[in-house]
Amino acid sequence: APRAAPRAAPRRLRATVSGPAMGAGRTRRATGRLDGMIRAVYPGSFDPLHNGHLDVIKRAARIFDHLTVAVLHNRLKPTTLFDIEERLEILRASLEGLPNVEVASFEGLLVDFCRRSGARVIVRGLRAISDYEAELQVAHLNRQMHPGVETLFVMTATRWSFVSSTRIKEIAQLGADVAKLVPKPALDRLIERFGPPRV
Ligand code: PNS
Repeated sequence: APRAAPRAAPRRLRATVSGPAMGAGRTRRATGRLDGMIRAVYPGSFDPLHNGHLDVIKRAARIFDHLTVAVLHNRLKPTTLFDIEERLEILRASLEGLPNVEVASFEGLLVDFCRRSGARVIVRGLRAISDYEAELQVAHLNRQMHPGVETLFVMTATRWSFVSSTRIKEIAQLGADVAKLVPKPALDRLIERFGPPRV
């Protein structure tokens, strides 16, 4: 049987930068990391995780060496249906088996989280033009606050392009079956909250 090709390392961004800060003879990869890993962050509320998110996560995990799914924990405005622990739990259970993906929560500015975690890339999914304006604004502001960070947009898979956590919560609360739109750990929590589907 054909075997999967081993992942080449070090990889992809091979450009190196050198400067006084690095000391004589030392170079550092353009990622800013001495280990040469390209780390990306996929941030969001994930209230709850749905199949559109999952598709973006799997695709981003194939591009980057390491992906952190970063869940916003907004203590000042706790307006989510699921608390931070529940949202993290759904993600952890749904992402088992993706070895280069980890789940974390963050408070405050996303760019500060990127600095702390050594990520140079922010991944966001774009469903339609309606997402674009707000995303563009945030991406510009994030880059102004942290010029080292690059926002990359992933076009949402066609089949999930109409899915949003807000709509899922709305229809699940009203008795619709959302089993085809969310992974099982999210479905279980929604049923726990709203009861089994009635239609
Ligand atoms: O899933 P969402 O709700 O669209 O995700 C939005 C999120 C969490 C990515 C965004 O609100 C965010 O990064 N919040 C943290 C505060 C921050 O850094 N905001 C950017 C200011 S321009």
